[in-house]
Amino acid sequence: MNKYFLDLGQQPLANNYLSTFGKVQKKYHLKLFFNTKTKIVSISKRIPSEKMFNNTYPYRSSMSQTMKNSFFKLSLEIKRKFNPKKILEIGSNDGALIKNFDKKKVIGIEPCNNLAKITSKNGFVTYNKYWNYKLAQKLKKKHGNIDLIYSANTLTHISNLNDVFRSISHLLSKNGILIIEDPSLLECMKKNSYDQFYNEHIYLFSAISVKNLLNEFNFEIFDIKNLSTHGGSIRYYIKKKGNKNIKIKYNVKKQIKNETKYGLHKFETYKKFSKNVKKSKINLLEILKKIKKNGKKIVGYGATAKAVTILNYCNINNDLIQNFIDITPEKINRYMPGKKIKILKYNKNILKNYDFVFLGAWNFKKEIFNKEKKFIKKGVKFITHIPKPKII
Ligand code: TYD
Repeated sequence: MNKYFLDLGQQPLANNYLSTFGKVQKKYHLKLFFNTKTKIVSISKRIPSEKMFNNTYPYRSSMSQTMKNSFFKLSLEIKRKFNPKKILEIGSNDGALIKNFDKKKVIGIEPCNNLAKITSKNGFVTYNKYWNYKLAQKLKKKHGNIDLIYSANTLTHISNLNDVFRSISHLLSKNGILIIEDPSLLECMKKNSYDQFYNEHIYLFSAISVKNLLNEFNFEIFDIKNLSTHGGSIRYYIKKKGNKNIKIKYNVKKQIKNETKYGLHKFETYKKFSKNVKKSKINLLEILKKIKKNGKKIVGYGATAKAVTILNYCNINNDLIQNFIDITPEKINRYMPGKKIKILKYNKNILKNYDFVFLGAWNFKKEIFNKEKKFIKKGVKFITHIPKPKII
């Protein structure tokens, strides 16, 4: 049974950055639910994929050095540990991972045409398609079974998880490896990062819920890695149950133990989270309003989808945060979805126009602090809401 625990209000499509403000932007009610049987956390409203992932999707994996490094390291690990003949990535985005592999060995699946074009132009076989059973059948006919399937921050965006895993099961070879990585529900709860929820993120996975999900498709997790990317993610290494050559590592049990200790299997944990989120909103607004009263200016650093949830849930307008800055060409000179806050093109002197910086991309805090050392020395202060709203 799905039990409701948090209302994040009316939210626009998180990656719908409009070039003129004032156009009617459709909003959807964002409510969160916990399934008492499968232990999966999900949002209520399912928006058709075509509305969100189309030919103007602005998110680019390669925009951060942190992500590029993470994918590079993973590619080395895949080659060393599994040495696959053929790799398939579901949601290959702009090629941040696949570019580390031999073009003959890798296939990308990317429904957003603007992104798929980037990898095909660079000579990588890319299917500009949504991941589903029909595509899996087509791929199997054309390429045979695949021995390694990888997907980062994609499967949680697809409503029909049954179809997702059925399709993977169809295409993956008997002893094949599936690696998926997505934000960690445990880290989200610990950090009170309710901004991990927006209409694209239909699910937030935990090892507990992934284990339950996989069980139905005869898959099992054999290893787990906690990553710092996206504010805390988990990489799940998965095999078919019939494959007895691979041992299940203790990490898997350990992660499930940690999650159980925290209470991810219990509804009460989510009620508590909901209370903390409401408190976080009050405290963040208090900080921003005080800064405004003192006549100081704030800029948001990183026009993230996460920040869209914050702005719309807390009702933050340009009287509180004057602008956002970002390096992504597709976001520049557009407005933060749902709010009249313009996104300006980042340049290395831009922070001198502001007194405070709200960390929209708090998950890249280290990278950003490193980049902005000069301004930090000069006294520019950062504001974060993770794990509690504060000035740092
Ligand atoms: P991210 O946190 O990955 O995304 P989301 O919440 O949308 O899933 O997005 C980071 C955003 O921050 C992205 O638009 C690029 C931007 N960014 C900068 O502008 N400068 C930087 O130095 C970094 C690291 C990111």
